[in-house]
Amino acid sequence: MEQTNSKRIVLGLTGGIAAYKAAELARLLIKQGMEVQVAMTEAARHFITPATLQALTGKAVLTSQWDEAQNGMAHINLSRAADAIVIAPATADFIAKLAHGQANDLLSTMCLARNCPLIIAPAMNRQMWEHPATQRNIAQLKADGVTILGPDSGLQACGEEGMGRMLEAEQLAHDIAASLQPKFLAGTKILLTAGPTYEAIDAVRGITNRSSGKMGYAIAQAALELGAQVTLVSGPTALSCPQGAQVVNVSSAADMFEAVKQHVAASDIFIGVAAVADYRVAQSSAQKIKKSDANLTLELVPNPDILAYVAALPRPPFCVGFAAESENLKEYAEQKRRAKKLPLLAANLAQQAIGADDNELVLFDDAGEHKLPSSNKLTQARALLQHIIKLRGKQS
Ligand code: C5P
Repeated sequence: MEQTNSKRIVLGLTGGIAAYKAAELARLLIKQGMEVQVAMTEAARHFITPATLQALTGKAVLTSQWDEAQNGMAHINLSRAADAIVIAPATADFIAKLAHGQANDLLSTMCLARNCPLIIAPAMNRQMWEHPATQRNIAQLKADGVTILGPDSGLQACGEEGMGRMLEAEQLAHDIAASLQPKFLAGTKILLTAGPTYEAIDAVRGITNRSSGKMGYAIAQAALELGAQVTLVSGPTALSCPQGAQVVNVSSAADMFEAVKQHVAASDIFIGVAAVADYRVAQSSAQKIKKSDANLTLELVPNPDILAYVAALPRPPFCVGFAAESENLKEYAEQKRRAKKLPLLAANLAQQAIGADDNELVLFDDAGEHKLPSSNKLTQARALLQHIIKLRGKQS
C-alpha cells in the first residue's frame, strides 16, 4: 500500500474500553513498515497491560514522565524523533486536556512538546461525544490542525447505540498511513464540483437526482491528504464538509456555474464530479403551483455544461470529467472525453456507483483505459489523484 516505510509513530493509549483495539492497531502499523513506540496513561493500564503492547511492538512501553532512564526528557526526546503521534483511543478527558494545552502526564506533555502531526481517534459514550463541551474541544483541536479520525456510530460497550465508537483498527491503520503520505499536491489548487443539483419547479418542488456527493467529497479529502488547497462547490448533500476544504454550497446548476466561474481562474486542476442536472424548468414559479384536474406541462431548457466551459477556457486548468453511464461504459465515456476535450475522464456504472460507498472507476486518457479495482470511494479517490499527478508530471 502507501509509502510509509520506516515512519516512526508514537502510539498513545488513554483509558477507554477501546484500548483493546490499540493492540491490533499497533500490529497493523508495524505490518505496514512503521516503527511503533507505545506510551500509555495511567488510566489506559486499567484496560490493557503494557506487557501486551510491549510484546507486539518489541519496545518497552512508556508510562511515566519520571522514568530515570530518560532523564525526565522522554516527552522531548520521543516527540522529536516521531513522524506522528497517534492517540487511540482518545478519551473525552484526554481530548479536553489537549484542547486546553494541559501537560500533567507523559502523554499529554509529549503532545504539547511535539513538532510533528497529531492524530487522534476519539472513543467514548455517545452522550459524552455529543456533549457541547466535547464538541467545543474537538472544534478547537481541528482549528489547531489536529487530525481527527472518527468516531464511528454503532453499538457501544455501555449498551447504548450512537456516535462515539472508535474506528476499527484496520480503518485507522489505513487512515494513519494516508495522512502520512508525501504532500505531492502541496501548493496545488483544486476546484471540485460534487453532489446533485436542485432545479426548482416552484417554491417547494424541484428536479434533482440520486447523487450522494460521496465520490466528490472523497476526492476532496484525498486531495487534502496530499496537501492540496481544495475548493469544493457542492450541491445539496447530507455529508459533512471535509476538514480543511473551502466549501461553497450551491443549489442549482446555474449557482454551481457561477461559483465555478468565480474560482476557476485561480485553480490548477478542475474535477467535475457533480451530477449536474441537464435541464432546468424554463419558468420556475415563486409560489407553490396549485393542483388542478388539468394536465401540467413543464418546459425544460438545457443547463450550461460547466465542465465543457472550463475545458474550453483559453488557459484551462487540468480538467477531469466524470461519467456515470448505465451501459456501454467505454464507448460513451470516450465520446464524452473527446467532446469535452478532456485529458482524463473517470467513468463508472451509474447503477453501481450512485449513493454507494464503494465504486469501480475506469479511467480514460490518451494512453487508453485503466481499471481501478473495486474499493471504497476514498481509496478510489486516492488512486485517481495518483493518476492525475502522473499525467500532469508527463505534461510538464
Ligand atoms: O452529464 P454528463 O455525463 O455529460 O457529465 C459528464 C461530466 O460533465 C461530469 O464530470 C459532470 O460533472 C460534467 N457536467 C457539467 N455540467 C453539466 C453537465 C455535466 O459540468 N451541465
